[in-house]
Amino acid sequence: MSHHNTRPSSPLTILLAFISALSITTAHASDKKHESEQGMKIVQQQLSLMKPELQQKIKALSPEIKQFVAHVAAKHSRKSDTATLAQVMQEVMADYQSMAMAIAMDNGEAAAEAAHRLADHRLPRGGLLPYMPLEMVTTQHLSVLPAMEEAVEGGSMRLAEAAKKGDMIEAAEHLGAVTRGCVACHQHFRGQPGTSTLLRK
Ligand code: HEC
Repeated sequence: MSHHNTRPSSPLTILLAFISALSITTAHASDKKHESEQGMKIVQQQLSLMKPELQQKIKALSPEIKQFVAHVAAKHSRKSDTATLAQVMQEVMADYQSMAMAIAMDNGEAAAEAAHRLADHRLPRGGLLPYMPLEMVTTQHLSVLPAMEEAVEGGSMRLAEAAKKGDMIEAAEHLGAVTRGCVACHQHFRGQPGTSTLLRK
């Protein structure tokens, strides 16, 4: 895309690369390195399924967003060769409803299981990005993704912990945070589903 992104040698780019290299030499360095290599491999496979216009948009993304996409790819153990994002979202909806049911029924075990399934939801064919409007596949629009992931998947894991301890009040609060993540992502990337172009405004 712009010259800016394709020129690897600007002082700022070198500094950022240096800083991110430093940050992965801390704590779980080898784990993280392994995860990002795994993730990059999966992203390469996903890219090979995409049409050139989407590949171009993805190549132009910032290194941080690319790393995040690789992190998501490595983190999810279930990947589908056929499922669309809409199908995966329906599975997510079912797990979300199971969590809410189990919290309301004081069933911590069932709430925790559903929360783990939700956090490790299936990844659709080609990953998330092919199902986004093409004009939203930019660093700016995608920069909200880590916050959405933290709300939905981080929130589900915290919900599972609280439910396992039998603290259903705390679990219910995490359910609220998860819900905010769903709603925010839909407002940002989707809007009202199923609108008709055959109705007057
Ligand atoms: C990363 C952004 C994102 C997050 C987070 C997210 N969604 Fe979605 N969701 C989407 C997008 C984009 C679509 C539209 C997909 C399409 O139509 O191809 C969608 C569609 C859906 C649909 C409609 C599926 C259909 O039949 O068309 C449901 C239901 C849904 N999401 C539930 C949820 C729930 C529940 C959560 C939270 C636990 C959630 N989503 C979190 C992005 C997100």
